[in-house]
Amino acid sequence: MTSTENIIGRADVNDIEQILMISNTDVDAAIHAVEDNADAIFTWDYEKGSRPALNKLYEKAKNSQWNGETDLDWSINVDQEAVVVANMAANNRGVGLDVAGTCFEKWGDKEWTELGIQSQNWTLSQFMHGEQGALLCTAKIVETVPWIDAKYYASTQVMDEARHVEVFAKYLNEKLSGHYPVNAHLKMLLDDIVRDSRWDMTYLGMQIMVEGLALAAFGFMHQMTTEPLLKQLLRYVMSDEARHVAFGVLSLKEYYQELSLDEIRERQEFAFEAAVRMRDRFLQQEVWDRMGVPVKEAVNVVMHDPGQILFQQMLFAKIVPNCKKLGLLDAGDGWLRTKFTELGVIDFEHMPDTEEEYETFALADGEIAGVR
Ligand SMILES: [Fe+2]
Ligand SMILES: [Fe+2]
Repeated sequence: MTSTENIIGRADVNDIEQILMISNTDVDAAIHAVEDNADAIFTWDYEKGSRPALNKLYEKAKNSQWNGETDLDWSINVDQEAVVVANMAANNRGVGLDVAGTCFEKWGDKEWTELGIQSQNWTLSQFMHGEQGALLCTAKIVETVPWIDAKYYASTQVMDEARHVEVFAKYLNEKLSGHYPVNAHLKMLLDDIVRDSRWDMTYLGMQIMVEGLALAAFGFMHQMTTEPLLKQLLRYVMSDEARHVAFGVLSLKEYYQELSLDEIRERQEFAFEAAVRMRDRFLQQEVWDRMGVPVKEAVNVVMHDPGQILFQQMLFAKIVPNCKKLGLLDAGDGWLRTKFTELGVIDFEHMPDTEEEYETFALADGEIAGVR
């Protein structure tokens, strides 16, 4: 049994000092190489549809492709500052936050608006980096998964992810006001996922954890934003992401039945590690740095802000029911249940899982605007 310290590098999940010790040092590098340690697997069993649920997903994906250049209305003008102000007004953001005696005490509208702008630049930048992680991971799955139906499906996801990287990059370049390098916690997680030699770990890290979180985060932002182009972009991306998470659930549900309890325990520990890394990344330490406030103090305020706590918990709304569906919550001595309880996210176990939910998220006929 591995200790918490061995899994995440610190004994206390909420140790802010340790969390902030991890920062991205090669922010000027143009590329980043990671060993992927995996065999490329040929299969000689070409029987299409021997896994009907994956085959159905593949057929669905072929008919759900959209074009980031021509199906989104890039002519929409985005006044980022006005959008931030409108979003804050529409969503009561920051209301109820007690800043007395903190580094935010003297902040006025100007600083809060600037924070909104920087947070948006940062959030969309991290989404873009995460999408590239998904692109690389899914290309790896095409090579490593031994089942033909899964190789077929994964190939459609590679195209989806290319489109997602493309549209987030374009939105950042054309509509927002700056980029951020990849957050160190997100980078650690993506590196760990890519580095693992076991094909199912790519799925667990990416399809279940990273994309499960992305689906919840995109949903939240889609609901909150008052900006029509971003709303449409997120709507399209979510219709794809729901399939991606379903791909993970369908594949791992089958594969985990073959694994021993010790092997399952390794998956539980990896799920926990991923959960902590993603929670840490949302503390957005780079934004506080750029805003010129003491990072540790700012993170401390945010960690105790009820609105932020609720937001961070909500990010696990898809992950927890999917881990439950895969048997990871309660396998063995229920270790992952205990860990998710400590993270304050266990209540989501009763939410719908994502095996079938892609039907609900699918774009309706004629919903693609087609502004070509
Ligand atoms: Fe994606
Ligand atoms: Fe995805």
